[in-house]
Amino acid sequence: MAKIIAVAQLKGGVGKSTITTNLAGSLAVQHRVALIDADLPQGTSSRWAVLRQDPNIELIAAETAQAMTAAVDALDSQVDYVVIDLPPRSLKFLRETLAFADLVLMPLSASAADVWATEELVAIVREVRKGNKRLRARLVWNRLRASRLTAKFLEETAAELRSKEMDSMLCQRTAYMEALGIGKTVEELKDKKAAAEWRIMMRDLLKQLDK
Ligand SMILES: Nc1ncnc2c1ncn2[C@@H]1O[C@H](COP(=O)(O)OP(=O)(O)OP(=O)(O)O)[C@@H](O)[C@H]1O
Ligand SMILES: [Mg+2]
Repeated sequence: MAKIIAVAQLKGGVGKSTITTNLAGSLAVQHRVALIDADLPQGTSSRWAVLRQDPNIELIAAETAQAMTAAVDALDSQVDYVVIDLPPRSLKFLRETLAFADLVLMPLSASAADVWATEELVAIVREVRKGNKRLRARLVWNRLRASRLTAKFLEETAAELRSKEMDSMLCQRTAYMEALGIGKTVEELKDKKAAAEWRIMMRDLLKQLDK
């Protein structure tokens, strides 16, 4: 059975597609991966996959929650991982996906707006977990800048949210923007710091799925 990873956030522009595409690319080095782009017509992950032409990645564009669920059912025995890029404001997509996902990654930056959106998302995840006990949820801090202000912000973020974070974090780096635009992962570019932090993120994530 495939492991299903959803990348979700109620707010736009937080790094969902960046994380989804890097995840699909990194997993596809050794595994068969289905990449479901449910954020249409924007289609960021689809554009990345078309540029990439990776034989280990099967791209599925899902315009409706029903189409997405049908695709996951059909692919379950054919791939090792299903990675889903969710649209930001659709509660229908969110609830349907979380009902069968193994892991939901919730990207956010160190800003009050992102934290507020995440509080709402975490409340929805908690509700859905009553029906899907397998579901794990983890925050992914993204676009962090090394500064005392950021450190203070993270420290003061609600304890309830912090208990759900990954051990690893992603910084603000041009390598993420560049990789997205050319169908690559940050591991394949020259920025060694970006590649290293991404590898740590992957290790944490696979650990979550093994639990
Ligand atoms: N860690 C990072 N460092 C630098 N740029 C980043 C980082 N993460 C994301 N970005 C950039 O921020 C922008 C938004 O990221 P992305 O498209 O992944 O967000 P999204 O949550 O999928 O947005 P949407 O809700 O519009 O689909 C993109 O231009 C992306 O390249
Ligand atoms: Mg996106």
